[in-house]
Amino acid sequence: MCGIIGAVAESAINPVLEGLGRLEYRGYDSSGISILSNNEIQTIKAQGKLNNLKQRLSMQPLEGDCCIGHTRWATHGKANVTNAHPHQCGQVSVVHNGIIENYLQLKQQLMQWGHHFNSSTDSEVIPHLINHYLAQQMSQEEAIEQTINQLKGSYALGVLINGASKNLYAIKQGSPLVISQGNNGAYMASDAMALGPDSGKIYYPKDNELIKLNTNEIKLCSGSLNKKIHYINNKHCTKVISKGDHSSFMEKEIFEQVDLLKRLSVNNHTGEYSTIDFINLNKITIIACGTSYYAASVAKTWFEKYANILVEIDIASEYRYRSPIIIDNELVIFVSQSGETADTLAALRYAKSKQSQTLALVNVANSTIAREANFTFEIFAGPEIGVASTKAFTCQLAIFYKMAIEAAKQRAFIDDVEVKQLALNFVQLPYIMEKVLQRCTDMKKMARKLSHYSNALFLGRGSLTAIAQEGALKLKEISYIHAEAYAAGELKHGPIALLDEHMPVLVIAPKNALTDKLLSNIQEVQARNAPLLIIGDSSIREQINLQEDEFFELPEIPESILPIISVIPMQLLALYTAQMLGKNVDQPRNLAKSVTVE
Ligand code: F6R
Repeated sequence: MCGIIGAVAESAINPVLEGLGRLEYRGYDSSGISILSNNEIQTIKAQGKLNNLKQRLSMQPLEGDCCIGHTRWATHGKANVTNAHPHQCGQVSVVHNGIIENYLQLKQQLMQWGHHFNSSTDSEVIPHLINHYLAQQMSQEEAIEQTINQLKGSYALGVLINGASKNLYAIKQGSPLVISQGNNGAYMASDAMALGPDSGKIYYPKDNELIKLNTNEIKLCSGSLNKKIHYINNKHCTKVISKGDHSSFMEKEIFEQVDLLKRLSVNNHTGEYSTIDFINLNKITIIACGTSYYAASVAKTWFEKYANILVEIDIASEYRYRSPIIIDNELVIFVSQSGETADTLAALRYAKSKQSQTLALVNVANSTIAREANFTFEIFAGPEIGVASTKAFTCQLAIFYKMAIEAAKQRAFIDDVEVKQLALNFVQLPYIMEKVLQRCTDMKKMARKLSHYSNALFLGRGSLTAIAQEGALKLKEISYIHAEAYAAGELKHGPIALLDEHMPVLVIAPKNALTDKLLSNIQEVQARNAPLLIIGDSSIREQINLQEDEFFELPEIPESILPIISVIPMQLLALYTAQMLGKNVDQPRNLAKSVTVE
């Protein structure tokens, strides 16, 4: 979603522009800055990529020591310069991430008071309200607090005020915000990754704590004035993230999975997982969005099959609105790469309000979901920059797999030999994955074929249904080819009506107990002249006549780890298809890396 950065430092525009660069990975459609320069707030905005903003700034260089910046992901109003942030009213300029739900009422009220609005955004009411209260002789702090008392919804704000004193304020409600006191300045951002090297110490403000940033100090303005800020180490600050020799971050992240899984399989974190009392659990509920939800779908099959635990999964945006039945000894697990997804966070807060035991599985250690859950496990995928999630998915699966082994051990549902076999399969996993990745060029042929179509159906069975769904999601996200996924047995219950020579059907068909059933589904596809693409075992090719660009061979894979390996060809297929169509795979249109609004 929107990215925010602010700095009070010498030549503050530099850390702000660098921060906006570091926020680019989140996806955005416009950007802008406001700077206190020559006793005036100067605001410059541009539609499209950050380079457009930089170009505008190169024609109009600005100097100043107090600056805010923003990358916008449109919610209210089109992606254009007028709707881009910062929004300014008089000597108040604001950057906002989140949604102001009651902005229409506030706007009406302000218009009655004589205010004129330029944009269609919800955010523009904020500088107008602050300005209104300043005009009533309130102090800057009072004007901001009075304003946020009126706002309904979620927000992280950077507020620049050019008054008798010139200040940068930060405040949040429900949206992520981080501040940092460096040696050369003070900074605020929506994401610790946006902060530069001068930000070793960070602080995550609580909701509605008003913070004033100065070069000399960062001050809590609300609540107890004597309250000290307790900083923690910024894990992101020294890491330089580059795509190395790869054509994109997504490609790098796909190929990185082998090493990550080697590390996860050698590094036996089971100590952590044994802290969960699986024996007395009556139910696990797993809640997530998007790709993380598909990881939950696979995890359900493992917990049920190997540990005989009842598992319910739910989409985070639905959970708290459906009156879920929460039972005794239920563990509610929240899966989120970013740890900031608004729907998942809201579901977590709902579960906590019902006294559930909550566990977070996150990639970003200090994220809000990690901080708020009763327990947190990291997935150790490292920063994921490609907007479409790849390595976080396989690392989520790896952690779930380890948890399922621990659950199987504790509940003794399968015998020791089977438990040992599960563990052994996990050790083999990265090596089998490596074999699949070594044959990546074969996938380019299939990608070329798929790139000629506008729609596709993906089929899988068992735990691979979730992998087919994940593959279809990846393809839509970055190539914009419409793809839907089904459990293969569902084909004849409706989607088969779509089949003709314009609708390719991709089937994940490894060698397992369901191969024969899949063969029947494959024949149903062939009978309707739909182009067939198979990611599967070599035995399938012996039975069905397939061209080189219609088949990607999977090596023999132990059943338990099939989903973790089978997703690799799906990721490659999406990547290569999108690249052949000339799409920007790291920053697909309309998508944001961290979805911080409901
Ligand atoms: C897909 C993708 C999204 C995210 C979803 C949840 O490639 O990245 O579907 O998986 O927005 O995000 P997190 O896991 O950060 O909660």
